[in-house]
Amino acid sequence: MINNRDRWRVYKRMSLMSLLALLALTVVQRGTSNMGAPFELERQARMHPPTDYEDKPDYGAKSFWKSSKPLPSTIESPRITHENGPTTWDITSTNCSANLNLSRQEWFKGLEVNFKQFLQYRHCRYFPITLNHPEKCSGDIYLLMVIKSVATQHDRREVIRKTWGKEQVVDGKRIKTLFLLGKPSNEVEKANHQKLLEYEDYIYGDILQWDFLDSFFNLTLKETHFLKWFHMYCPNVRYVFKGDDDVFVSVQNIFEYLEMSSQVKDLFVGDVIFKAKPIRKRENKYYIPHALYNKTYYPPYAGGGGFLMDGPLVKRLHVAADTLELYPIDDVFLGMCLEVLKVTPIKHNAFKTFGLVKNKSSKLNKEPCLFKSMIVVHKLLPTDLIRMWNLVNSNLVCSQKAQIL
Ligand SMILES: *[C@@H]1O[C@H](CO)[C@@H](O)[C@H](O)[C@H]1NC(C)=O
Ligand SMILES: *[C@@H]1O[C@H](CO)[C@@H](O)[C@H](O)[C@H]1NC(C)=O
Ligand SMILES: *[C@@H]1O[C@H](CO)[C@@H](O)[C@H](O)[C@H]1NC(C)=O
Ligand SMILES: *[C@@H]1O[C@H](CO)[C@@H](O)[C@H](O)[C@H]1NC(C)=O
Ligand SMILES: *[C@@H]1O[C@H](CO)[C@@H](O)[C@H](O)[C@H]1NC(C)=O
Repeated sequence: MINNRDRWRVYKRMSLMSLLALLALTVVQRGTSNMGAPFELERQARMHPPTDYEDKPDYGAKSFWKSSKPLPSTIESPRITHENGPTTWDITSTNCSANLNLSRQEWFKGLEVNFKQFLQYRHCRYFPITLNHPEKCSGDIYLLMVIKSVATQHDRREVIRKTWGKEQVVDGKRIKTLFLLGKPSNEVEKANHQKLLEYEDYIYGDILQWDFLDSFFNLTLKETHFLKWFHMYCPNVRYVFKGDDDVFVSVQNIFEYLEMSSQVKDLFVGDVIFKAKPIRKRENKYYIPHALYNKTYYPPYAGGGGFLMDGPLVKRLHVAADTLELYPIDDVFLGMCLEVLKVTPIKHNAFKTFGLVKNKSSKLNKEPCLFKSMIVVHKLLPTDLIRMWNLVNSNLVCSQKAQIL
């Protein structure tokens, strides 16, 4: 949960920078072609046409910017799944008003604004989908990488696509990547960022977006919406990696780990915390009032920075999530779902979602040989991530692989 809070602080600072960056990139890209790295965008767009649009008119960049029609990626074709129930996203309108009953109650009046807002809209479970990719899970997929992101953090997505989130086939096993987003929360930035995001999705076809506000307490909605989406569209995904957009991930180590764990049923592994206590001091920024959670301990849960689970379990998590009231902290909420299913998450030392070593000034935090033996490390911003990725994937000589896997 610390990861996410920090993220929101950095969010504002990054916003303007990434907006300008993408704008510049787009403008230059439209005027030139075939000139190196930034133009990767257009090349990829041509190399991987999303299967959906094949029979549709040519949506060139120019027509994109003029068009006010819905984007091709939002057009769904019905899919047949082996289970009963809706086969396309079945929420088409948002009509959810605040629960005004609460404001008449004494305990509610004493709460902080953010908890009030959360509680008043807690019963609004599902929202319409504004960018969808029903085709993403077609065929057999070994590993689906899903990454929580927000509209303004284009630079993080860009680096992830070039490093650990690259879609590829390794030893015949397919890896696919998706970013999970809500609506930009800043009014001023909303219109511009939405248009840029739609263009980014038009190029890469890897963004899922729902019509709820991208705020810290709405991260649980991102969780439940993904679970429902996966349940609906992904019958043949073996494993799911879910994480933040500011982490380092070793796909090779994920593969090694999964091969060793192929017999494990209900696999759920990450940086698991047992017996975490909700913080009860009001002045603490992670404070949780009793009205929201009245037990002493949280169920075991994995830090939301990055964890692995198997596909069949993800589907059962969706069913479990629908039986619970929403909880404002997304990773704790998932722990509650696991508890319903009586599945105990596995703690593994190669998942470092709360930092590599506690001492932030320690040189170990920049030691590539340590990264080489990890599965997830929080937190790395784009320039550090690309530098570390290059180091780890160079002819790095390490005296020995740390005995972690
Ligand atoms: C939303 O719900 C309210 C009450 O349930 C209803 O009166 C109203 O017509 C609905 N609006 C839309 C746009 O569906
Ligand atoms: C508010 O209270 C009324 C009466 O007790 C109840 O019928 C209604 O469902 C409540 N509204 C919500 C959103 O819980
Ligand atoms: C979550 O998103 C909904 C829909 O956009 C919004 O009404 C609500 O206020 C948001 N909740 C929080 C806690 O930000
Ligand atoms: C704790 O909360 C649950 C559900 O919110 C409620 O049913 C229960 O009575 C509460 N227990 C105490 C001791 O307040
Ligand atoms: C943290 O690491 C730095 C550099 O290695 C060291 O100088 C410092 O004493 C360490 N601090 C603690 C609290 O261990």
